[in-house]
Amino acid sequence: MLDRILRVAPVAALTKMDKVTRLMGKLSLVYLALGFILGAVLMAGKGLSANWGSAWGSIHAHVLFAGWFVQFAVGIAYWLLPRRKSADRPLGYDERLALLACGLINAGLLLRVALEPLFNLQVIHGPLVTVGLTFSGILQAGAGLIWAFQLWGRFFRRYSATTPITK
Ligand code: HEM
Repeated sequence: MLDRILRVAPVAALTKMDKVTRLMGKLSLVYLALGFILGAVLMAGKGLSANWGSAWGSIHAHVLFAGWFVQFAVGIAYWLLPRRKSADRPLGYDERLALLACGLINAGLLLRVALEPLFNLQVIHGPLVTVGLTFSGILQAGAGLIWAFQLWGRFFRRYSATTPITK
């Protein structure tokens, strides 16, 4: 079975990294750097007994969890998990939907990064914050649903294939 797949799969098709993976990977490394820098700043702030740390602690956490960790893992998953490619779906998944999910997670995260410290520092308050944070959550949840929808079936395949499989 594996022999058959390798015979029909050009090497380039097996090794070329997906656009979604490259985009999400690059973005995740940006969040990794920003999250670690923010962590270092927070640590310094603790050492100096500064009182602004709590306003940025959850941003540090979200940037590193959602922005770095989840985005990196999901980006790699799009590339690595077994897939069934076909003529009308050459990547084995709908790339536009995957890019939409990438946009949703980043838009949701950036909205939170913008709103939460302002709220914690009491620069803004009221419905603007509630609506903004709810919207941020909906955007990120939307990304999660798309990922689950697109990646679910790929856990039920053992091998990738570059040609359509009819049965
Ligand atoms: C993947 C790596 C990391 C993850 C997932 C992570 C996650 C977290 C989480 C969940 C918190 C609690 C946030 C809160 O609700 O207040 C936190 C706090 C903190 N982290 Fe990290 N962290 C990471 C790396 C780092 C690094 C590299 C540093 C330092 C260079 C750092 C420094 C801090 C500090 C100082 C706090 C306390 C912030 C506060 O005062 O509330 N973290 N981190």
